[in-house]
Amino acid sequence: MNDFDNAVEVHNLTKRFGGFTAVDGIDFVIPRGEIFGLLGPNGAGKTTTIRMLCGLMLPNAGSATVLGFDVTRRPEEVKKRIGYMSQKFSLYNDLTALENIDFYAAIYGVPDTERAARVSRLIEMSGLKGFEREPTHTLSGAWRQRLALACAIVHNPPMLFLDEATAGVDPVSRREFWDLIYTLAGEGVSVLATTHYMDEADYCNVIGMMYQGELIALASPDKIKQELPGVLIQVDCDRPGEASEMLQELAEVRSISVHGAQVHVTLKDAKEMRKIEKALSLADIDVHSVESVEPSLEDAFIAMVAQRRSQNSQLPEQHVN
Ligand SMILES: Nc1ncnc2c1ncn2[C@@H]1O[C@H](COP(=O)(O)OP(=O)(O)OP(=O)(O)O)[C@@H](O)[C@H]1O
Ligand SMILES: [Mg+2]
Repeated sequence: MNDFDNAVEVHNLTKRFGGFTAVDGIDFVIPRGEIFGLLGPNGAGKTTTIRMLCGLMLPNAGSATVLGFDVTRRPEEVKKRIGYMSQKFSLYNDLTALENIDFYAAIYGVPDTERAARVSRLIEMSGLKGFEREPTHTLSGAWRQRLALACAIVHNPPMLFLDEATAGVDPVSRREFWDLIYTLAGEGVSVLATTHYMDEADYCNVIGMMYQGELIALASPDKIKQELPGVLIQVDCDRPGEASEMLQELAEVRSISVHGAQVHVTLKDAKEMRKIEKALSLADIDVHSVESVEPSLEDAFIAMVAQRRSQNSQLPEQHVN
């Protein structure tokens, strides 16, 4: 077995497509048995990062090791030791759940003597028992997701890459899916997961926030919340959509988002709260309360992206030769 301290080590990893930089010199490590969440808006570079780490795409610069193997020089060693549930995972619809897992077991070269026991353990673990002989196309989205996870881990990989593994799945099923991920991490499996669901990001040991190819934050979920730039104000008012559109024009407002009946506003300073109340009252919008609240991960994420956008817009125009 290859010796390694961290399941993943990434240094200055970079990917360009022509003149466009999709992944821009990122650095991070994933210690063994930890769950690392990679967050970021569409097009941030998450899937591209995963594809390089899975040995499926060559970086243009920088380096990365997975389970101690260099992804550029030893991609085959990486591929056979990892589990990868891609954003568009493929299951064979005409096969039953059992046959799908068995098929992947054969592809990954699980020895015949271990195959039946492994498949039956995965059926049990993923809660598919009773459905294992149903054709895959009759299973609901959540069951298909669990089946895809079972297929991805049939060879007991010590490192698992999950690219939006729970997209489009209901909250209860997502919670159950994450219970499975925790079980695996408890057994020493290291995990890199991308997600757009902030409740899932809160389950990760460390989060990397990606924006336009760069890692703009790298810390535990709690630390990321504490480091929110500015203060977060929750405004409970009538017509929150209209209020949000109006408030985002104010110079004091750094970022804004609507959460049901409430508007979350980040300000540089709590003293600026009065200006918010005044602006709403001038617009004839009834305000029920304005208070400073603890930020959620989603608030921190929105504030960081807004901050980065405003920094970028203040940069002098770059000239490409
Ligand atoms: N093969 C490719 N050729 C050219 N551009 C690409 C290629 N693959 C990705 N890109 C571009 O690189 C950027 C990053 O894409 P990527 O798929 O990594 O983003 P992502 O963070 O996974 O987004 P999403 O949340 O939508 O899945 C995007 O602008 C995308 O259009
Ligand atoms: Mg993606």
